[in-house]
Amino acid sequence: MSELNEQGNKLLALLADGEFHSGEKIGELLGVSRTSVNNYIKGLQEIGLDIYKVPGRGYQSASPIDLLNEKVVRALSRSQLVKVEQILDSTNQWLLDKIPNVRNGQTCIAEYQLAGRGRRGRTWVSPFASHLYFSYYWRFDAGIEKLSGLSLLVGIATVNALEKIGIQGVSLKWPNDLYFEGKKLAGILIELNAQANEACHTVIGIGINVRMPPEQAKLIDQPWVDLTSLSREKIDRNLLSATLILELQKLMPEYEKRGLKPYIERWLALDYFLDKPVNVLLAETQKAGICRGIDEAGALLLEVDGKVETYIGGEVSLRLA
Ligand code: BTN
Repeated sequence: MSELNEQGNKLLALLADGEFHSGEKIGELLGVSRTSVNNYIKGLQEIGLDIYKVPGRGYQSASPIDLLNEKVVRALSRSQLVKVEQILDSTNQWLLDKIPNVRNGQTCIAEYQLAGRGRRGRTWVSPFASHLYFSYYWRFDAGIEKLSGLSLLVGIATVNALEKIGIQGVSLKWPNDLYFEGKKLAGILIELNAQANEACHTVIGIGINVRMPPEQAKLIDQPWVDLTSLSREKIDRNLLSATLILELQKLMPEYEKRGLKPYIERWLALDYFLDKPVNVLLAETQKAGICRGIDEAGALLLEVDGKVETYIGGEVSLRLA
């Protein structure tokens, strides 16, 4: 399935205003009986839309539904390399399947992911039209060595984009999460397609919580926050997508040339753990120390008994002590 069917789309367009619509009116619009209306509503609820029924008034979406718009994202980002899909397995997989026939900057955004992926084989909860599911392609001709700091750079680009749309106070949790006051706001999953001595193809996946439907929140097993609760203004996912594309377009070529070094100061300013006691979780054990930021390769610096040790991402994760 890559889109809702015609009736699903009609129903979505009707409910998008956040007003009540009677079962009778919906039945007429879709050309179906009132019992079937219930099934169509269930279909939208199953993909994560918060739709309620109030006896005597009809059906209502808990909040107005703003859909992604490919033309708008292309215009705002000044990039034609943007694909907006309604339903996909995973935006990362969509791009991975197109390698090597993709150009730097190709972006894929979806309203819904049937199999959104998080780090460590976890599922990324992806309710319809609620959050941002965004993937961006970049090819590194210098090969895989350059990539150790990439997720940190992408974290910085994402915070920059959020600040540009008016969201302040977001910090970064090494190596690739965005946090607001100790709660997860966004995650980054970079997937590679690389052969020895050849260019390295990267797909940079970014998931940002925009508006968490209450039913979906129950599926998340850690403290989370969404942009809607951080902003007085309504979050425009088209503008957010375009701003993120512009930021990545600016930072990626620079990172490819000069690595993470020019960005270390910015990282330290955003580092949620800096100078705090932390536990580094290794496969079997954990190590306690003080977080002292990062080095030029993006490795974590951990002070243990007055000596600084380095840890690279991928093998470890980090918790406040
Ligand atoms: C994490 O576990 O923190 C990383 C989450 C990354 C989720 C994004 S959503 C867009 C892209 N497509 C996926 O399947 N995953 C990433």
